[in-house]
Amino acid sequence: MLNTQEYINKNKNKFLEELIKLLEISSVSAAVKYKDDVLKCANKVAEYLTSSGAENVEILSTKGFPVVYGEKIIDSNLPTILVYGHYDVQPADPLELWNSPPFEPIIKKTEIHPEGAIFARGAADDKGQFYMHIKAFEAMNASNELPCNVKFLIEGEEEIGSVNLKDFLIENKEKLASDIILISDTEMISKEQPSISVGLRGLSYIEVCVEGAKMDLHSGVYGGAVPNPIQILSKIINSLIDEKGRITIPNFYDKVIDLTPEERTELNKAPFEIDEFKNSIEIKDVIGEIGYTVIEKTGIRPSLDINGIWGGYTGEGAKTVLPAKAYAKISVRLVPNQSDEEITKLFIDYIYSLAPKSVKVTCTPHHGGKPYLMGIDNIGFKAAKKALSHTFKNEALPVRGGGSIPIVALFEEILESKSILIGFGLNSDVIHSPN
Ligand code: BES
Ligand code: MN
Ligand code: MN
Repeated sequence: MLNTQEYINKNKNKFLEELIKLLEISSVSAAVKYKDDVLKCANKVAEYLTSSGAENVEILSTKGFPVVYGEKIIDSNLPTILVYGHYDVQPADPLELWNSPPFEPIIKKTEIHPEGAIFARGAADDKGQFYMHIKAFEAMNASNELPCNVKFLIEGEEEIGSVNLKDFLIENKEKLASDIILISDTEMISKEQPSISVGLRGLSYIEVCVEGAKMDLHSGVYGGAVPNPIQILSKIINSLIDEKGRITIPNFYDKVIDLTPEERTELNKAPFEIDEFKNSIEIKDVIGEIGYTVIEKTGIRPSLDINGIWGGYTGEGAKTVLPAKAYAKISVRLVPNQSDEEITKLFIDYIYSLAPKSVKVTCTPHHGGKPYLMGIDNIGFKAAKKALSHTFKNEALPVRGGGSIPIVALFEEILESKSILIGFGLNSDVIHSPN
């Protein structure tokens, strides 16, 4: 019988081919037109779980896209690990910016990956990452080296906020019971430097609509006396962050847990080159809250971004229009111990308070998510660090992930298990972007 490593070496090409098939499915959860593909992807994941040796594989329905479940219980006295991942992906738009079609994976050699890297939507977020665990399981199971029970929970709505997964957790609490949850859906510092995310930021997301006159008007006939929704929206947006880079929503920072100077020093020990950072995304300078480093600004401090803004005339040439409406999508990243529900309420109240009486302002909340935090004394963290030391020369470092995985806080709340976030993505994967 082959041992785990031998099994992996022998099956490497098969594993790669299978992963490519998974990446060919356009499982975009956000757009209705991909509904069938998302379901097709759930089937594929179930097929892979079964062929990898998982038992009781099921495609379980939720109010939204289904959850794929599978397990291997070797001994009820042994610890149980629940592996979580998501088979849905972000929309691939704008398609014209892709060098090769997003759902036709290709392998290309790059500077960072001279051995070749797969280019496809979802390669890192999250298909490649959860697939890795299925194959690790397959190899350990086939070689009789599995040291614990394993359960898989692969969902299809992470990229749209996992809104239906909460109820699923409540209804399937027993089935999903575990000692620790293992998630690979974050990043590592570099190919040589593994890291484990001990925190994730939360999210509050709103859409704002500003309405002026009942129709678009001639800007010469009406301009000067009639409120311009785009200008008013711009002014509102402009007042959301002050000159010190702080978010101005009243009481916004009340519940933020400040790190001790020691914790901040520790956090900033992670290798980070500001020029490399700037060059990698071609920005001339960084911005943000005064008194914090980039690592802190993107990991332990909240941030606010306008995700989209539209209104008026943006077509060819000049149209002298005084628009009737303006819109913006605005998201706020939250840190422990901020509550997304509380912040969304404070945020909306604040926007209304900023609205002049000349216009009608409407705010609509979108899905949000709670932040997450764990200690490095956690047994799962220690085990993960030890596991990574088998492969990497450098010791794994604890980091704070700037992105959000909304279900992680609910895993703790409902399933009462902590999540170990071992990311294998790299910044250079530019997840959610083209290519
Ligand atoms: N895998 C990401 C989250 C992530 C990426 C965490 C990199 C840390 C580092 C996840 O799929 C994601 O994109 N989450 C969304 C939230 C969701 C509610 C749309 C996000 O962070 O914007
Ligand atoms: Mn993800
Ligand atoms: Mn994502």
